[in-house]
Amino acid sequence: MAGGSRPEGRDTGTGSRTNAAPAIRSDAVAHDFLAPVFAQYPLEVVSAEGVWLKNAIGERVLDLYGGHAVASLGYGHPGWTAALTQQARSCNFQTNAVPMQVRVRAAERLVRFSKLDFTSVFFVNSGAEANENAMKLAFRMTSRTHIAAIEGAFHGRTAAAGAVTWGAMQKWYCYPRAPFDVSFIPRGDIATIDQHVSDRTAAVIVEPVQGLAGAVDLGAPYLQALRRRCDEVGALLIFDEVQCGVGRTGYPFAANMYGVMPDMITTAKALGNGFPCAALLTCAKVSAALKLELLGTTFGGGPMACAVMEAVIEAIESENLLERVRRVADYIRKTCIVGPVKGHQGAGFLTGLRTTRPAKAIQSELLECGILTGTASDPNILRLLPAFILEEEHVDLLRDALASLPT
Ligand SMILES: Cc1ncc(COP(=O)(O)O)c(C=O)c1O
Repeated sequence: MAGGSRPEGRDTGTGSRTNAAPAIRSDAVAHDFLAPVFAQYPLEVVSAEGVWLKNAIGERVLDLYGGHAVASLGYGHPGWTAALTQQARSCNFQTNAVPMQVRVRAAERLVRFSKLDFTSVFFVNSGAEANENAMKLAFRMTSRTHIAAIEGAFHGRTAAAGAVTWGAMQKWYCYPRAPFDVSFIPRGDIATIDQHVSDRTAAVIVEPVQGLAGAVDLGAPYLQALRRRCDEVGALLIFDEVQCGVGRTGYPFAANMYGVMPDMITTAKALGNGFPCAALLTCAKVSAALKLELLGTTFGGGPMACAVMEAVIEAIESENLLERVRRVADYIRKTCIVGPVKGHQGAGFLTGLRTTRPAKAIQSELLECGILTGTASDPNILRLLPAFILEEEHVDLLRDALASLPT
């Protein structure tokens, strides 16, 4: 398939106007006005349905990347679409200062869905914002100055979330300094946890299955060791489940899968299926520290976000999607170790396929075959983050395409 290439620019219309204001940039027609900060795939999507994307000339592409783990229900899900449009019609926005039942319902639904002992939810807009607020609460509760994160972690691009993101300082962190002390614990090395987590540490923040690093499953013993050390020194444990949460592992949260209870979970992405929303879930001890005006947000917890969060959880539960994620993820692991793929890692639909040659090349070759996949910071990991509605027949298409590629 020829993925449909991105147009060089767009028609600004200025050529036909005689009284047009002077152009801001003389070369404006040769560019679009989007900030040039994203490398883009050679695929322009005009519509989508289920797990399929369609380009301008009607070619279909199987989406195994789900918009960076966001499209949990895929595209055009009827329940999600109805919830969003009904809420848009009935009341599109009110702030958190105005009580709304849809907000109360979404918070209760999320806590019940988690099957974990959380007592409050603070809704925000993005993963980074959820992490900022989680760390802020940890500093407030402990009066300490240090956060421990894990090598390879990604927590977002804001000042605090970026400070605990592995490699950000070298690559893109432009703030003059980190807002607090940070250290990174070697990944998987239980023996070094004690030296990094001390009575100075306000919190440990960890993605139980690291996403950008390449679907790296940190495993129960490591997470249990973090929990134990946090308890010993009085630090809080924050699970960043922005990417691995809300069903992606085949469990409500990775915390359920590992049987390790954090003090806070941050989550986003799959939670909204494309409508921006995120949440910070807090256990009773943390909830008790919440005070009026300690946290705030304009858009977080808006009624449309709350309506879609309810709809996502309703679909996951009523369509038995956790079971499907576990089943189809197993099928990927059993059938797709072919062609240039020699192994797998991760959990559920946060899957890393280990490749014999650079994953970026394999990603391009798969796109030529009509399959969209992702990569990771590990150059030999092809990352799959498909919608939870994926079926075995879709995996067969991936298997056949991989089998046709050079090893
Ligand atoms: C694990 C994790 N945490 C935090 C973030 C940041 O989320 P956002 O881009 O919504 O701020 C991401 C985004 O990819 C993520 O994968």
